[in-house]
Amino acid sequence: MLNEVLEMLSLEDGDVAVDGTLGLGGHALEIVKGIGVSGKLLVFEQDERNLKVAKERLQEYGDQIIYINDNFCYLKTRLAEVGVEKIDAALFDLGLSSPHVDDAERGFSFMNDGPLDMRFDPRAELTAAKVVNTYPEEELTRIFWLYGEERFSKKIARKICERRESVKFSSTVEFADFLSQEIPKVKGKHKGHPATKIFQALRIEVNHELEVLEELLPQVFELLNVGGRVVFISYHSLEDRVVKQFFKALERPVAEGDDAIYSNFSDPYVESLTKKPLVPSNEEVSANPRSRSAKLRAYKKIKEKI
Ligand SMILES: C[S@@+](CC[C@H](N)C(=O)[O-])C[C@H]1O[C@@H](n2cnc3c(N)ncnc32)[C@H](O)[C@@H]1O
Repeated sequence: MLNEVLEMLSLEDGDVAVDGTLGLGGHALEIVKGIGVSGKLLVFEQDERNLKVAKERLQEYGDQIIYINDNFCYLKTRLAEVGVEKIDAALFDLGLSSPHVDDAERGFSFMNDGPLDMRFDPRAELTAAKVVNTYPEEELTRIFWLYGEERFSKKIARKICERRESVKFSSTVEFADFLSQEIPKVKGKHKGHPATKIFQALRIEVNHELEVLEELLPQVFELLNVGGRVVFISYHSLEDRVVKQFFKALERPVAEGDDAIYSNFSDPYVESLTKKPLVPSNEEVSANPRSRSAKLRAYKKIKEKI
């Protein structure tokens, strides 16, 4: 959704921009062109392998780009360290990148066998194997239900705990095969592989995906200049909901103090640029099937919160 991102960011020469999810640098390459030689681009990527590939690709832009090998939840602190207090534009293209799925060793795929890992950041301690082999049954039920919206969460958690008593889980395909046997088949209900929802839940848990997003959002709003824009692309309804609800509260803030006497809502702090989320075209989905669940939301800051 490159064109949509650029249209929504409406970049200008000299802008200070953030790409919070650099990946292999596809979006960053166009953003850096959009801000011209007087602009500055700060990029975050928690996976150092992706960062390295992107850095080579963006080499010609030299120190116009500042690379930060860290989680975007440290946005404000990391920008302050390099003397940046305000930004004009930001992109967060959430989730995983192609190498995560294609490289079996990263442990995200149940089609190609690899270790049950799923860490975006290989420096992190928590792996998917640790979650399935050590979390208490109630905790597994909770994350499968909350993050996977899996209706058989309780049963699956129980079966995992029974089985790990004798043999621990270690590989993605072995775990996916186990899930296929244990997840009851509901006629016409299960689209795709039965392990899909459980794998999604584990990935969200391992990378604390919802927590880091919740930590990020107020920082983005604070850092944006009035008139500045931010774009989010999410790939599952849970993260889309977090983004939508955060900005909805800024679009229709409940009045406080004197304002409350006259109206229920005070002036908005942001304007939504996408009344409905944008979705990829049919052509984009055929060229890149992984984009099929993408939803793009964009916002413009219109008032500072004091
Ligand atoms: C969908 S890809 C981004 C693709 C990128 N827009 C491009 O054009 O190549 C998401 C990337 O963001 C990284 N990522 C995900 N969550 C992150 C976080 N909380 N902090 C930093 N990087 C993150 C992932 O490691 C992955 O490389």
